[in-house]
Amino acid sequence: MDEQTPANPATPKALPEVVRFNKVTKSFGEGPNAKVAIQDVSFVVHDLPNQGELIAIVGPSGCGKSTLLRILAGLRPHFPATSGDAHVFGKPIEKPDAGRGMVDQKYSLMPHLTVADNIAFGLKLRGVGRKERRDRAQEWAKKVGLDGNEDKYPSELSGGMQQRVSIAATLILEPKILLMDEPFGALDPKIRMQMQELLVRLWNEQQSTVFLVTHSMEEAVYLGDRVMRMAAKPGRLVEELQVPRPDEPPEVMRARPWFSELTEDLLRRLETDAPPGGDLAGTDKWRRRA
Ligand SMILES: Nc1ncnc2c1ncn2[C@@H]1O[C@H](COP(=O)(O)OP(=O)(O)OP(=O)(O)O)[C@@H](O)[C@H]1O
Ligand SMILES: [Mg+2]
Repeated sequence: MDEQTPANPATPKALPEVVRFNKVTKSFGEGPNAKVAIQDVSFVVHDLPNQGELIAIVGPSGCGKSTLLRILAGLRPHFPATSGDAHVFGKPIEKPDAGRGMVDQKYSLMPHLTVADNIAFGLKLRGVGRKERRDRAQEWAKKVGLDGNEDKYPSELSGGMQQRVSIAATLILEPKILLMDEPFGALDPKIRMQMQELLVRLWNEQQSTVFLVTHSMEEAVYLGDRVMRMAAKPGRLVEELQVPRPDEPPEVMRARPWFSELTEDLLRRLETDAPPGGDLAGTDKWRRRA
Protein backbone atom coordinates (compact mmCIF):
# COMPACT_ATOMS: atom_id res chain seq x y z
CA MET A 1 0.00 0.00 0.00
CA ASP A 2 1.34 3.42 -0.88
CA GLU A 3 1.58 5.45 2.28
CA GLN A 4 1.47 8.69 0.31
CA THR A 5 -2.03 7.97 -0.94
CA PRO A 6 -4.82 9.43 1.18
CA ALA A 7 -6.72 6.57 2.81
CA ASN A 8 -9.98 7.53 1.21
CA PRO A 9 -9.76 8.76 -2.37
CA ALA A 10 -12.91 10.81 -1.78
CA THR A 11 -11.27 12.65 1.11
CA PRO A 12 -9.66 15.95 0.19
CA LYS A 13 -6.02 16.00 1.21
CA ALA A 14 -6.50 19.18 3.20
CA LEU A 15 -8.44 17.47 6.00
CA PRO A 16 -6.39 16.99 9.15
CA GLU A 17 -5.15 13.50 9.89
CA VAL A 18 -6.41 11.65 12.93
CA VAL A 19 -4.13 8.63 12.53
CA ARG A 20 -1.29 7.84 10.17
CA PHE A 21 0.62 4.57 10.19
CA ASN A 22 3.61 4.57 7.86
CA LYS A 23 5.26 1.17 7.35
CA VAL A 24 4.75 0.20 10.97
CA THR A 25 6.49 -3.07 11.83
CA LYS A 26 6.55 -4.78 15.21
CA SER A 27 8.78 -7.74 16.03
CA PHE A 28 9.02 -9.50 19.36
CA GLY A 29 12.41 -10.90 20.31
CA GLU A 30 15.75 -10.55 18.58
CA GLY A 31 17.81 -12.32 15.94
CA PRO A 32 16.70 -15.61 14.40
CA ASN A 33 13.99 -16.06 17.03
CA ALA A 34 12.38 -12.70 16.30
CA LYS A 35 8.65 -12.98 15.67
CA VAL A 36 7.13 -10.44 13.31
CA ALA A 37 3.69 -9.48 14.66
CA ILE A 38 2.90 -6.87 11.99
CA GLN A 39 4.88 -5.80 8.96
CA ASP A 40 4.81 -2.55 7.00
CA VAL A 41 1.30 -1.54 8.01
CA SER A 42 0.34 1.79 6.41
CA PHE A 43 -2.98 3.63 6.46
CA VAL A 44 -4.43 7.07 7.07
CA VAL A 45 -7.63 8.18 8.80
CA HIS A 46 -8.76 11.77 8.23
CA ASP A 47 -10.84 13.96 10.47
CA LEU A 48 -14.12 14.07 8.59
CA PRO A 49 -16.13 17.22 9.39
CA ASN A 50 -19.03 16.56 11.78
CA GLN A 51 -18.72 12.81 11.64
CA GLY A 52 -16.32 10.24 12.96
CA GLU A 53 -15.20 7.21 11.04
CA LEU A 54 -15.58 3.66 12.29
CA ILE A 55 -12.86 1.36 11.08
CA ALA A 56 -13.52 -2.34 11.59
CA ILE A 57 -10.42 -4.55 11.64
CA VAL A 58 -10.82 -8.21 10.66
CA GLY A 59 -8.34 -11.01 10.11
CA PRO A 60 -7.36 -14.48 11.33
CA SER A 61 -6.11 -15.08 14.84
CA GLY A 62 -2.51 -13.97 15.26
CA CYS A 63 -2.49 -11.52 12.31
CA GLY A 64 -1.68 -8.61 14.59
CA LYS A 65 -5.03 -6.89 15.19
CA SER A 66 -4.42 -6.37 18.89
CA THR A 67 -0.83 -5.38 18.19
CA LEU A 68 -2.01 -2.64 15.82
CA LEU A 69 -4.55 -1.36 18.34
CA ARG A 70 -2.11 -1.43 21.24
CA ILE A 71 0.54 0.47 19.29
CA LEU A 72 -2.13 3.07 18.59
CA ALA A 73 -3.00 3.14 22.30
CA GLY A 74 0.67 3.43 23.27
CA LEU A 75 0.48 0.26 25.38
CA ARG A 76 3.51 -1.94 26.05
CA PRO A 77 4.87 -4.42 25.16
CA HIS A 78 3.39 -3.88 21.69
CA PHE A 79 4.27 -0.19 21.79
CA PRO A 80 6.63 1.15 20.58
CA ALA A 81 6.82 -0.23 17.06
CA THR A 82 10.14 -1.73 15.97
CA SER A 83 10.20 0.46 12.86
CA GLY A 84 7.97 2.86 10.96
CA ASP A 85 5.98 5.83 12.20
CA ALA A 86 2.69 5.89 14.08
CA HIS A 87 1.18 9.38 14.33
CA VAL A 88 -1.96 10.71 15.99
CA PHE A 89 -3.15 14.21 15.07
CA GLY A 90 0.17 14.76 13.30
CA LYS A 91 2.38 13.88 16.27
CA PRO A 92 4.27 10.67 17.02
CA ILE A 93 2.56 8.47 19.62
CA GLU A 94 4.60 8.58 22.81
CA LYS A 95 2.50 7.03 25.54
CA PRO A 96 -1.09 6.18 26.49
CA ASP A 97 -3.43 9.16 26.51
CA ALA A 98 -7.00 9.64 27.71
CA GLY A 99 -7.75 11.01 24.23
CA ARG A 100 -7.36 7.42 23.01
CA GLY A 101 -9.67 5.21 25.06
CA MET A 102 -9.37 1.44 24.94
CA VAL A 103 -12.11 -1.12 25.61
CA ASP A 104 -10.88 -4.69 25.48
CA GLN A 105 -12.41 -8.10 25.79
CA LYS A 106 -11.49 -8.46 29.43
CA TYR A 107 -13.52 -5.44 30.59
CA SER A 108 -10.78 -4.44 33.10
CA LEU A 109 -13.19 -3.27 35.81
CA MET A 110 -12.04 -2.71 39.36
CA PRO A 111 -13.75 -5.35 41.51
CA HIS A 112 -13.68 -3.29 44.72
CA LEU A 113 -15.41 -0.28 43.11
CA THR A 114 -19.13 0.12 42.45
CA VAL A 115 -20.54 0.56 38.95
CA ALA A 116 -20.73 4.34 39.47
CA ASP A 117 -17.16 4.52 40.77
CA ASN A 118 -15.88 2.34 37.95
CA ILE A 119 -17.61 4.56 35.39
CA ALA A 120 -16.26 7.72 37.03
CA PHE A 121 -12.77 6.42 37.77
CA GLY A 122 -11.08 8.34 34.94
CA LEU A 123 -12.88 11.53 36.00
CA LYS A 124 -11.47 11.09 39.49
CA LEU A 125 -7.97 10.82 38.04
CA ARG A 126 -8.67 14.08 36.24
CA GLY A 127 -9.55 15.75 39.51
CA VAL A 128 -13.29 16.11 38.89
CA GLY A 129 -15.16 16.64 42.19
CA ARG A 130 -17.34 14.01 43.87
CA LYS A 131 -20.72 15.58 43.07
CA GLU A 132 -19.99 16.05 39.38
CA ARG A 133 -18.53 12.54 39.19
CA ARG A 134 -21.67 11.07 40.70
CA ASP A 135 -23.93 13.05 38.34
CA ARG A 136 -21.98 12.17 35.24
CA ALA A 137 -21.64 8.51 36.22
CA GLN A 138 -25.40 8.38 36.69
CA GLU A 139 -25.95 9.98 33.30
CA TRP A 140 -23.64 7.42 31.67
CA ALA A 141 -25.14 4.49 33.56
CA LYS A 142 -28.44 5.57 32.03
CA LYS A 143 -27.01 5.92 28.53
CA VAL A 144 -25.77 2.33 28.59
CA GLY A 145 -28.98 1.03 30.17
CA LEU A 146 -27.59 0.41 33.65
CA ASP A 147 -29.57 2.92 35.68
CA GLY A 148 -30.54 1.48 39.03
CA ASN A 149 -27.32 -0.56 39.13
CA GLU A 150 -24.97 2.26 40.14
CA ASP A 151 -24.23 0.86 43.59
CA LYS A 152 -23.62 -2.73 42.55
CA TYR A 153 -20.18 -4.31 42.30
CA PRO A 154 -18.86 -5.91 39.09
CA SER A 155 -19.22 -9.43 40.53
CA GLU A 156 -22.99 -8.83 40.79
CA LEU A 157 -23.30 -8.10 37.06
CA SER A 158 -23.60 -10.29 33.96
CA GLY A 159 -20.82 -10.21 31.35
CA GLY A 160 -22.90 -7.95 29.10
CA MET A 161 -23.53 -5.51 31.95
CA GLN A 162 -19.85 -5.46 32.86
CA GLN A 163 -19.00 -4.71 29.27
CA ARG A 164 -21.43 -1.78 29.31
CA VAL A 165 -19.75 -0.42 32.44
CA SER A 166 -16.43 -0.70 30.68
CA ILE A 167 -17.75 1.14 27.61
CA ALA A 168 -19.30 3.89 29.77
CA ALA A 169 -16.04 4.24 31.75
CA THR A 170 -14.18 4.83 28.50
CA LEU A 171 -16.73 7.03 26.73
CA ILE A 172 -17.31 9.32 29.73
CA LEU A 173 -13.82 10.68 29.05
CA GLU A 174 -14.92 11.61 25.52
CA PRO A 175 -11.92 10.15 23.74
CA LYS A 176 -11.27 11.49 20.25
CA ILE A 177 -10.20 7.99 19.30
CA LEU A 178 -11.95 4.92 20.66
CA LEU A 179 -10.13 1.60 20.43
CA MET A 180 -12.19 -1.55 20.89
CA ASP A 181 -10.60 -4.99 20.83
CA GLU A 182 -13.34 -7.59 20.29
CA PRO A 183 -15.54 -5.78 22.78
CA PHE A 184 -18.63 -7.86 22.11
CA GLY A 185 -16.96 -11.24 21.65
CA ALA A 186 -18.27 -12.77 24.86
CA LEU A 187 -21.85 -11.55 24.54
CA ASP A 188 -24.86 -13.53 23.39
CA PRO A 189 -26.27 -12.53 19.97
CA LYS A 190 -29.22 -10.51 21.30
CA ILE A 191 -27.16 -8.45 23.75
CA ARG A 192 -24.48 -8.14 21.12
CA MET A 193 -26.92 -6.53 18.71
CA GLN A 194 -28.15 -4.17 21.43
CA MET A 195 -24.56 -3.20 22.16
CA GLN A 196 -23.91 -2.55 18.49
CA GLU A 197 -26.89 -0.22 18.33
CA LEU A 198 -25.74 1.48 21.50
CA LEU A 199 -22.26 1.96 20.10
CA VAL A 200 -23.65 3.48 16.90
CA ARG A 201 -25.82 5.88 18.91
CA LEU A 202 -23.00 6.97 21.21
CA TRP A 203 -20.59 7.22 18.32
CA ASN A 204 -22.99 9.48 16.41
CA GLU A 205 -23.20 11.69 19.49
CA GLN A 206 -19.46 11.91 20.04
CA GLN A 207 -18.35 11.80 16.40
CA SER A 208 -15.10 10.19 17.37
CA THR A 209 -12.90 7.90 15.32
CA VAL A 210 -13.48 4.29 16.32
CA PHE A 211 -11.25 1.29 15.64
CA LEU A 212 -13.12 -1.94 16.30
CA VAL A 213 -11.48 -5.36 16.12
CA THR A 214 -13.99 -8.10 15.48
CA HIS A 215 -14.14 -11.70 14.32
CA SER A 216 -17.67 -11.15 13.03
CA MET A 217 -17.95 -10.09 9.39
CA GLU A 218 -21.55 -9.02 10.06
CA GLU A 219 -20.40 -6.72 12.82
CA ALA A 220 -17.60 -5.32 10.64
CA VAL A 221 -19.88 -4.61 7.69
CA TYR A 222 -22.76 -3.32 9.80
CA LEU A 223 -20.74 -1.03 12.04
CA GLY A 224 -17.86 -0.09 9.77
CA ASP A 225 -17.44 2.81 7.37
CA ARG A 226 -14.26 1.09 6.40
CA VAL A 227 -13.18 -2.51 6.83
CA MET A 228 -9.45 -3.21 7.10
CA ARG A 229 -8.65 -6.84 6.34
CA MET A 230 -5.42 -8.26 7.70
CA ALA A 231 -3.62 -11.52 6.93
CA ALA A 232 -1.15 -13.54 9.01
CA LYS A 233 2.46 -14.72 8.66
CA PRO A 234 3.52 -12.01 8.66
CA GLY A 235 0.68 -9.92 10.05
CA ARG A 236 -0.14 -7.28 7.44
CA LEU A 237 -2.90 -5.10 6.08
CA VAL A 238 -4.07 -6.55 2.78
CA GLU A 239 -7.18 -4.64 1.92
CA GLU A 240 -9.39 -1.70 2.85
CA LEU A 241 -13.03 -1.52 1.84
CA GLN A 242 -15.48 1.33 2.05
CA VAL A 243 -18.88 0.07 3.25
CA PRO A 244 -22.20 1.85 3.93
CA ARG A 245 -22.69 3.57 7.26
CA PRO A 246 -25.02 1.95 9.81
CA ASP A 247 -27.88 4.31 9.06
CA GLU A 248 -30.61 1.73 9.68
CA PRO A 249 -31.20 -0.79 12.49
CA PRO A 250 -29.02 -3.93 12.33
CA GLU A 251 -31.93 -6.29 11.60
CA VAL A 252 -33.01 -4.12 8.65
CA MET A 253 -29.55 -3.79 7.16
CA ARG A 254 -28.82 -7.48 7.69
CA ALA A 255 -31.89 -8.44 5.68
CA ARG A 256 -30.63 -6.62 2.58
CA PRO A 257 -29.27 -8.95 -0.13
CA TRP A 258 -26.07 -6.92 -0.56
CA PHE A 259 -25.32 -7.36 3.14
CA SER A 260 -25.06 -11.15 3.07
CA GLU A 261 -23.24 -11.08 -0.28
CA LEU A 262 -20.64 -8.76 1.13
CA THR A 263 -20.16 -10.51 4.47
CA GLU A 264 -19.93 -13.95 2.86
CA ASP A 265 -17.45 -12.68 0.30
CA LEU A 266 -15.38 -11.00 2.98
CA LEU A 267 -15.31 -14.21 5.01
CA ARG A 268 -14.22 -16.18 1.93
CA ARG A 269 -11.44 -13.73 1.22
CA LEU A 270 -10.33 -13.86 4.82
CA GLU A 271 -10.30 -17.64 4.95
CA THR A 272 -8.36 -17.96 1.70
CA ASP A 273 -6.05 -15.00 2.39
CA ALA A 274 -7.15 -13.62 -0.97
CA PRO A 275 -5.00 -10.87 -2.46
CA PRO A 276 -6.55 -7.40 -2.63
CA GLY A 277 -8.41 -6.24 -5.65
CA GLY A 278 -10.20 -9.44 -6.68
CA ASP A 279 -13.92 -9.66 -7.32
CA LEU A 280 -15.95 -8.63 -4.38
CA ALA A 281 -19.58 -9.68 -4.41
CA GLY A 282 -19.43 -9.21 -8.18
CA THR A 283 -19.88 -5.46 -8.02
CA ASP A 284 -17.80 -2.34 -8.03
CA LYS A 285 -19.88 -0.59 -5.39
CA TRP A 286 -17.31 -1.25 -2.66
CA ARG A 287 -14.49 1.13 -3.18
CA ARG A 288 -11.27 -0.75 -2.71
CA ARG A 289 -8.08 0.80 -1.60
CA ALA A 290 -4.89 -1.13 -1.23
N1 LIG B 1 3.77 -9.89 24.11
C1 LIG B 1 4.09 -10.66 23.06
N2 LIG B 1 5.25 -11.33 22.99
C2 LIG B 1 5.57 -12.08 21.92
N3 LIG B 1 4.79 -12.25 20.86
C3 LIG B 1 3.60 -11.62 20.86
C4 LIG B 1 3.18 -10.80 21.95
N4 LIG B 1 1.95 -10.28 21.68
C5 LIG B 1 1.64 -10.79 20.47
N5 LIG B 1 2.60 -11.57 19.98
C6 LIG B 1 2.60 -12.28 18.69
O1 LIG B 1 2.30 -11.35 17.68
C7 LIG B 1 1.38 -11.91 16.71
C8 LIG B 1 0.16 -11.04 16.61
O2 LIG B 1 -0.56 -11.12 17.84
P1 LIG B 1 -1.89 -10.32 18.13
O3 LIG B 1 -2.27 -10.58 19.52
O4 LIG B 1 -1.69 -8.91 17.72
O5 LIG B 1 -2.89 -11.04 17.10
P2 LIG B 1 -4.47 -10.88 16.95
O6 LIG B 1 -4.74 -10.64 15.49
O7 LIG B 1 -4.98 -9.88 17.92
O8 LIG B 1 -4.99 -12.35 17.32
P3 LIG B 1 -6.39 -12.78 18.03
O9 LIG B 1 -7.43 -12.68 16.96
O10 LIG B 1 -6.14 -14.21 18.41
O11 LIG B 1 -6.64 -11.88 19.19
C9 LIG B 1 1.11 -13.32 17.20
O12 LIG B 1 1.93 -14.20 16.47
C10 LIG B 1 1.48 -13.31 18.64
O13 LIG B 1 1.96 -14.57 19.04
MG1 LIG C 1 -6.24 -9.96 19.55
